[in-house]
Amino acid sequence: MHELVIVLDFGGQYNQLIARRVRECNVYCEVKSYKTSIEEIKAMEPKGIIFTGGPNSVYLEDSPSISSEIFELGIPILGICYGCQLMAYLTGGQVSSAEKSEYGKTETEFNTTSLLFKGLPQKGVTWMSHTDYISSLPQGFTSVAHTADCPVAAMENNSRRLYGIQFHPEVMHTDNGTAMLRNFLYEVCKCRGDWSMSNYAKTAIEQVKAKVGKGKVLLALSGGVDSSVLAALLSKAVGNQLTCIFVDHGLMRKNEGDEVEAAFKDWDVNFVRVNAGERFLGKLKGVSEPERKRKIIGEEFIRVFEDEAKKIGTVDFLAQGTIYPDVIESGAGDAAVIKSHHNVGGLPDYVDFKDIVEPLRLLFKDEVRQLGIELGLADYLVWRQPFPGPGLAIRIIGEITKEKVEILQDADAIFREEIALAGLDRDIHQYFAVLTSMRSVGVMGDFRTYDYTLALRGVTTTDFMTADFARIPYDVLAKISSRIVNEVKSINRIVYDITTKPPSTIEWE
Ligand code: XMP
Repeated sequence: MHELVIVLDFGGQYNQLIARRVRECNVYCEVKSYKTSIEEIKAMEPKGIIFTGGPNSVYLEDSPSISSEIFELGIPILGICYGCQLMAYLTGGQVSSAEKSEYGKTETEFNTTSLLFKGLPQKGVTWMSHTDYISSLPQGFTSVAHTADCPVAAMENNSRRLYGIQFHPEVMHTDNGTAMLRNFLYEVCKCRGDWSMSNYAKTAIEQVKAKVGKGKVLLALSGGVDSSVLAALLSKAVGNQLTCIFVDHGLMRKNEGDEVEAAFKDWDVNFVRVNAGERFLGKLKGVSEPERKRKIIGEEFIRVFEDEAKKIGTVDFLAQGTIYPDVIESGAGDAAVIKSHHNVGGLPDYVDFKDIVEPLRLLFKDEVRQLGIELGLADYLVWRQPFPGPGLAIRIIGEITKEKVEILQDADAIFREEIALAGLDRDIHQYFAVLTSMRSVGVMGDFRTYDYTLALRGVTTTDFMTADFARIPYDVLAKISSRIVNEVKSINRIVYDITTKPPSTIEWE
């Protein structure tokens, strides 16, 4: 049993970030829909509640709201952005629309006698993104921060332990934002901070042992961070009762299949590698639409896995590398599907198992990495950059052929090698090559060429939900470009992707 803080989700874009920041402060928290009933909230006995950001205005039709009973529970509440306006509105204050939005980095003055800002500087930059503002405070509340345009940048009702801030403390652009959340958790909610990965590792190993007993466990290992950490955890818990099946779909980066095999074959687990490249290419023949590629790969993956699992016979448990963002995203319902991530929600139909084990279900990605370190997993597995389940299939625009896969593998390997040589591999969080379907005219020696354009993508990001393009120095790009056109056949032009996410996504498909 941990101390719990509930992040009540009103649909803002930074909701997961708020939860991650709370956990960084060593307090366990869960994201729950604003539709959660007051009874359920009470039953969870949270030490505090945080209202997230949301739509533009509390006055819009369909704007999410909550019963004002929540303010009578005696549980401390912090409202952020829309959450702050909603708190003001529901407790009798007035929210109005400003003529001009306040957006971006904003100089803010704080009243440091407020518990929220205790021990922090009186002035600092905060990240604002709002048009509506609190024009009249609810009774019992006082303003404890303001900006040039916004008289109530923060408000509090100390005796009822209700707090609201108009800006976003969870984003990095806000000075001391995490410290403000920490103040809420420790000064207001009186948390002690009992959430840490070493505690978690011990508890999770014990829980898996208790659940699995002498049973057999089956795991689909991809070599990515999540499934590798899962394998480490399970091997500590149940040793060779675990069988890992690694389906190599032939769409991995160059040599990656062998690397995954090498990393796991000496462990005290049963490791099976299936080379299914031809089978996947066959299914993908003639397909160029990204979502269909994803679907085909997801389904085929399950079929191959099933075929292999049948050879093993009955297992008791199927292990899944589900992590917390998957849980939140598949439960959210309201959010638009931008891309279907195939590893979410697909369970094999014909594998005989009694139950699933998902010991990473409550963890964010950075916590999964910390857990990996805690369990003694090799650095290169813990810090591996994310790689999409469908692999190079969604980095080859249009139809996939064996030849194109090889071209892309070779070009991508050069890109990665040069980034590592330049010492940039930890600074750029994800980087890869994309084989476009565009061909253009070039000249090689005395010959005209008509070959593919290769795109390079490198991003810096903390959460992969927003990203900036990495500022790779020109001389590094120059070397990469010259090596690729010289060493890889069929490429005569290289471009670098300079878009941020949003409006782009990280992958091209
Ligand atoms: P996007 O392209 O949506 O990518 O900005 C965000 C992050 O997710 C990864 N990604 C995927 N991962 N299956 C996965 O397992 C997928 O289908 C998939 N599509 C994108 C992407 O590499 C980036 O890290």
